[in-house]
Amino acid sequence: MRRIAAKFAASLLLGSALIHPADAQAAPKPSSSQLPANDAAIDARVEALLAKMTAEEKAGQLSQFFYFAQIPAMAKGVDDQIAAGKAGSILFTTDPKLLNRAQKMAVEQTRLKIPLLVGFDVIHGLHTIFPVPLAMAASWDPKLVERSQAVAAQEARAVGIHWTFAPNVDVALDARWGRIVEGAGEDPYLGSAMAAAQVRGFQGSYIGAPSHIIAGPKHFAGYGAAMGGRDYDQSEISENQLHNFYLPPFKAAIDAGAGNIMAAYMALNGVPAAGNHRLLTDTLRTEWGFRGWVVSDAGGVDALRTHGIAKDGTEAAVKAISAGTNMEMVPPGQKAHMPSLAAAITEGKLTTAELDAMVRPVLAAKFRMGLFENPYVDEARAAKVLADPAHADAARAAAERSAVLLRNEGGLLPLDRKKVRSLAVIGPLADSQRDMLGPWIFSMNNPSAESLLAGIRAKVGQGVTVSYSEGVRIPARVNPSPFDMMDGKRTKPEPIDEDAEIAKSVALARQSDAAILVLGEAQNMSGEKASRASFDLPGRQKELLDAVVATGKPVIVVLMSARPLAVQDSKAAAILDIWYPGSQGAAAAANLLFGDAVPGGKLPISWVRSAAQAPMTYARLPSHDPTDAAKRYQEGSNEPAWPFGFGLSYTSFAYSNLKVLTPKVAPGSPVNITVDVANSGPRSGDEVAQLYIHQKHGTSSRPVRQLKGFERVTLKPGEKRTLTFTLSPEDLRYWSDATRSWIEDSSDFEVWVGGDSTASLGGSFEVGGR
Ligand code: NOJ
Repeated sequence: MRRIAAKFAASLLLGSALIHPADAQAAPKPSSSQLPANDAAIDARVEALLAKMTAEEKAGQLSQFFYFAQIPAMAKGVDDQIAAGKAGSILFTTDPKLLNRAQKMAVEQTRLKIPLLVGFDVIHGLHTIFPVPLAMAASWDPKLVERSQAVAAQEARAVGIHWTFAPNVDVALDARWGRIVEGAGEDPYLGSAMAAAQVRGFQGSYIGAPSHIIAGPKHFAGYGAAMGGRDYDQSEISENQLHNFYLPPFKAAIDAGAGNIMAAYMALNGVPAAGNHRLLTDTLRTEWGFRGWVVSDAGGVDALRTHGIAKDGTEAAVKAISAGTNMEMVPPGQKAHMPSLAAAITEGKLTTAELDAMVRPVLAAKFRMGLFENPYVDEARAAKVLADPAHADAARAAAERSAVLLRNEGGLLPLDRKKVRSLAVIGPLADSQRDMLGPWIFSMNNPSAESLLAGIRAKVGQGVTVSYSEGVRIPARVNPSPFDMMDGKRTKPEPIDEDAEIAKSVALARQSDAAILVLGEAQNMSGEKASRASFDLPGRQKELLDAVVATGKPVIVVLMSARPLAVQDSKAAAILDIWYPGSQGAAAAANLLFGDAVPGGKLPISWVRSAAQAPMTYARLPSHDPTDAAKRYQEGSNEPAWPFGFGLSYTSFAYSNLKVLTPKVAPGSPVNITVDVANSGPRSGDEVAQLYIHQKHGTSSRPVRQLKGFERVTLKPGEKRTLTFTLSPEDLRYWSDATRSWIEDSSDFEVWVGGDSTASLGGSFEVGGR
């Protein structure tokens, strides 16, 4: 009991920085059911309920329906399912009043009064929008990420959501794949840190913690390796890559306590995800000890038919259940297949024990979340939580800390307000509010953002003349995004004369002390169904950029995108990548441009020069001919424009004195390394010190470099800090296809610490001895 109380107190503390005092007072006192429930008590309640349930009611708990409650015609069919006890869960409604209404049907009209579990894609905020997850990874700041997702959870829980389909922990080496925006980029170590931080942020310290929701890492597994970067296409991943690249962030999320996991859509090595017994049962449950439930992706159970491993819906449901998928996410207009499980039992295709095993964790989640005691939310309180100003502060901090400064020739940035009296703000994204928010944001949650133009105007006030020209338009996608309709009604903008706009942009730049070009991709060019075959700036943006640069005025490019764009050859003096920065992105970017915040983010991806270089990882294997490893293409370098881990600051940092305190250790022992990092420049700033290793020989060929440690530190000018990194045996372990097992070789290792993946300050150590 004392342990429970301590755990509960810890969870309150965790959230304390984020809970506005007024909100903390308004929050209802946790009832005993909101304390971390003891497993035996939960199990007993689950068994007692299960014993009362018919096979049809059990199958109902395994069906989750898309529920657009605000559109009565679409809601009707699902209302009927809820009232008939045939829906265990719903998704896609975020209005507390409509959610209370749905719960009322489940709780008052069904025989067993089982409340609904409400899911939603809370990816980077619900109402207060944070930078997209790829940007959050660029902060290299797991604590910030945890705090941000705790805010998102607080808003979601307040409106009646219990579970998010996040974090997306898909490692992605190929930025053609639009969903790279949702993950932490190319690296499994950084990805694991971000996965665990997000799970902690969403869930708090236990499932059912007040103001928190259940996390569902996705998409299990290998979705990020979609062939050719084409969303939904098959993934073909070697055992080596699966274990060493794609699975670690999932394992980290499960170790952090994630209560749910979502199976992917696609086939991995020929096996469709929702029917993949090896992954969903052998790896997830047997090896990793996962005790939560698996949901299919939308239509993922039916997809066992379209993928060609089930002849009909019943077989699809039986195969999904037998593989380890507990719950079917049923898209609008599709028939649920889980109800056919009742007949499958009668026909001997499935046993009651097998069905019960899949229902248990779903019921357990409902008990843990306290839904039987408290299925409803307080609508007035929900409105207050969404309006909490502390949330906006958190979003601004996140946007400031995730921006990456790619170039800053002659120290052009930060702009000096005393010297810059006139600014030309130019570009198709300069005056866009919607694009600041990024993908996976829905108008029904009433999110808002200022445009960067408005943010700059607010920052400089009356004293500086700010002129604006759109310049060019980003052409609409050839295959439209299915998510555009979730943006609500939008008026189509008047067409522009791009030749005239480019001329106007040039004229404005000529009249100004500096030009800020806000370029990139529209937000709907990233996300689901948003693959690209080119990383060129879309439309005539390059022409616009070149024309403005040709004026000879200082040019700053502010980039908005979630994939590398080919800007490296432009002659712009400064390039600041703000990704899609969220609700407070305009204020954050203005702070960064004028030096009220200092960029400290680092790339979570290698910034390839063109789509032709994808896929790319800095962690490639050595080859038989390492001498020209950077020149594999006839056209020249195959190195990225900017390496993984790269990012500049308004100050500079110097690394020295790398010491391996344990130069020779036995296998299974930790290795300790210290290094000094000093701020060698004129102002305070943040540096992300990164540690990379290379194993020189052993059972398998090992990457030329692998990230195995990092720390973001703030240093004043002249300040020096000694950082300590400890490599655990886990860090030196890897999956070898030679032995088909995890191993730690006795070997010699190189180690480097520095500000990106090309760090040159190195040392060495030896594990074992031969
Ligand atoms: C399909 C997406 O792949 C998944 O990530 C998402 O959670 C579901 N749709 C629900 O929106």
